Amino acid sequence: MAKTINDLRRKKQNAQKITMLTCYDYPTAVLQDQAGLDVIFVGDSLGTNELGYAHETAVSLDDIRHHLKAVRRGVKQAYLLADMPFKTYENPEMALATAQDLIAHGADGVKLEGFQEEIVAYLHNNGIEVCGHLGYTPQSHNKAAVQGKTFDSAKKLVDGAVSLQHAGASMLVLELVPEELGKLITGKLAIPTIGIGAGRFTDGQVLIVQDMLGIHSGQLRHSKNFGQVGEMMLNAFQTYTREVETGEFPQPANARNMKSEELERLLK
Ligand code: KIV
Ligand code: NA
Repeated sequence: MAKTINDLRRKKQNAQKITMLTCYDYPTAVLQDQAGLDVIFVGDSLGTNELGYAHETAVSLDDIRHHLKAVRRGVKQAYLLADMPFKTYENPEMALATAQDLIAHGADGVKLEGFQEEIVAYLHNNGIEVCGHLGYTPQSHNKAAVQGKTFDSAKKLVDGAVSLQHAGASMLVLELVPEELGKLITGKLAIPTIGIGAGRFTDGQVLIVQDMLGIHSGQLRHSKNFGQVGEMMLNAFQTYTREVETGEFPQPANARNMKSEELERLLK
């Protein structure tokens, strides 16, 4: 049975951590699902991490849909969440059309950014499960920076989080906020909070899959290289190149053969 919002809420109630990663393709989805991830998330980080775009705002609904369909084929047990791209939820009707499109293509729920109580309420009233996203929100902030460090900005985030829950949000991502604020908001809400760069005390954690696999060079403070996959890929590509060039690959064992009678006829 696939996980539901109720399963995630129960985890919060039982003080069990919720695990989430971004995912943009089928093979990664199969492995994440097999690993037991709670939430597999087709984020608009797709743009910068998978498609080579300069910014998240370049991601279209077509882009998300294309990758969502691939991920859907690989997810059996996790909750599958999809991001609503930039400018696809400008008003309640547009937001509902976007959300219904993503649900029709396999999402269990959708995520949107910012203080969008009216949109969240409209989606919720139309039966859509919505995850909010506060703190650093790439669709409206140009540069990654910690949000909510001062009283006024922190208060705005606390009030916004409570309002989103009141509007019917099922979950809330907190990105790049002080650990103290992650803890405070998590304690105030009945719905699960999922942190990225939000410290230890949110109900769950999310990372961008390329970041945690070590596919990029370098390491971000909020992330951790759980593998050195970039280095492994580069090594494999370099070794392949060398072995093809030197004739070391392929070997007879990698080849297929035809019957000698057939070959003789062909050579005649
Ligand atoms: O698109 C994304 O990857 C996100 C996460 C950072 C939560 O929104
Ligand atoms: Na996003």
